[in-house]
Amino acid sequence: MRIGSIIHGQERNEDYRDTLEVKSPYDQALVTELALAKQEDLHDGVSSCYKTFHTTMKGMPAHRRADILRNAADQMERKAEEFAQAIMDESGKPITFSREEVKRSVQVLRFASELTKHVTGEVLPMDAAVGGENRMGLVKREPLGVVGAITPFNFPLNLSLHKIAPALASGNTVVFKPAEKTPVSAYKLVKLFQDAGLPDGALNLLLGTGEETGEPLVAHENVHKITFTGSLPVGRKIRESAGFKKVTLELGSNSPNILFEDTDVKETVKALVKGAFAFSGQVCISAQRIYVEKSIYEPFLEEYVKQTEDLTVGDPVREDTDIGPMINEEEAERAKLWIDDAVEKGAVVQTGGEQNGTMLTPTIMTNVESNMKIIAEEVFAPIASIIPFETEKEVITFANDSIYGLQAGVFTKDINRAMRVANQLEIGGVWINEISTYRQDNHPYGGVKQSGIGKEGVKYALEDMTEMKFIGIKLKQ
Ligand code: SIN
Repeated sequence: MRIGSIIHGQERNEDYRDTLEVKSPYDQALVTELALAKQEDLHDGVSSCYKTFHTTMKGMPAHRRADILRNAADQMERKAEEFAQAIMDESGKPITFSREEVKRSVQVLRFASELTKHVTGEVLPMDAAVGGENRMGLVKREPLGVVGAITPFNFPLNLSLHKIAPALASGNTVVFKPAEKTPVSAYKLVKLFQDAGLPDGALNLLLGTGEETGEPLVAHENVHKITFTGSLPVGRKIRESAGFKKVTLELGSNSPNILFEDTDVKETVKALVKGAFAFSGQVCISAQRIYVEKSIYEPFLEEYVKQTEDLTVGDPVREDTDIGPMINEEEAERAKLWIDDAVEKGAVVQTGGEQNGTMLTPTIMTNVESNMKIIAEEVFAPIASIIPFETEKEVITFANDSIYGLQAGVFTKDINRAMRVANQLEIGGVWINEISTYRQDNHPYGGVKQSGIGKEGVKYALEDMTEMKFIGIKLKQ
């Protein structure tokens, strides 16, 4: 099956010389073939969105936008298994995790539908300023126009919806460029919106590479905002070339999890095994650095190795598979090189570290140092490092010693300590007694430092998809 870009309701997949094969990361079976977008598709995609914004979406009543998003949620619920299979086939995400992603996506659509009716403004007390008597000030929120949404392979459906749903909820149109490695769920999503009653041109799909399609989209003069999830180097480039456009960037992390001695070891190990290795660690908030107070370090490590070795590694289609492949062989090789680099510098592999094609066994490292890539950079692979600490002050310094700051976990029964630590972490989101990898789709989500700019979490993304407009009235007496 060959799929192509969808522009103003029409799919473009014939007479395309440039194509790309998408293969299952697990067994390399052909999933689909992409007809790569041409420059004219990019031009048409943006101009159709631009026109549709002015003729249709900008003036569409909120109740209608809410209905479309609710229809989309209902339809996705009905087609949940089809979407889950698509995510699994294209990304290698184990089927149980793919189903979880679809459930979350339905919720995101429902949140967006509900919030559509609550995009409010305010009336200003103009007489607070001398001379402001007999004046009235209104602040309203208006959509931005055309939003360019560039999305990653790791949550191909849900992270796309975190951009598309709030953009449509607030009356924008969207040019959607999904990761070329995972285009099938994106293609199905655009079709689903068509069936849900979204007007042609409100959501155009461009299937292409970052260089050929993403970069010109970012630079295009008729695009008003870019919202991107992906790597730090690409985020940096986007920031540079977006000019005066608004940007939301959700970039990387090397998320810390801090366990004080009063932590329930067995229960926390279970959560952190999932937190570090789910979807082979290809999650921005994966539990990459695990700091454990010295007095519980040995029992923690022993239990962590044991539970990790109990994981089922293999075919994502199986209901009992915990760990499937990485997205491609190149990424698995890169991760293996980072393990080898750490070992050369003195680190110890406690378990795992075996790479074969796209498979990398869940890996636990100890004796690590802050100059190793597996600590200093975003590892985006099934590799967790366990690091002992002695004092609260010391562990805060360790955790903050990073260019990133997206999400963290702190484990203790002492609420005063938990709050002291949470307040001092230079990180966008801190969970207490929960792993860094846990995310609910309605809380603000976004990093500080080089983890990005702006927030997602439907309500917060929606605010960033609108512009405040002030209207003042001088009243005649
Ligand atoms: C991410 O990888 O940034 C998203 C994590 C999630 O939504 O669970």
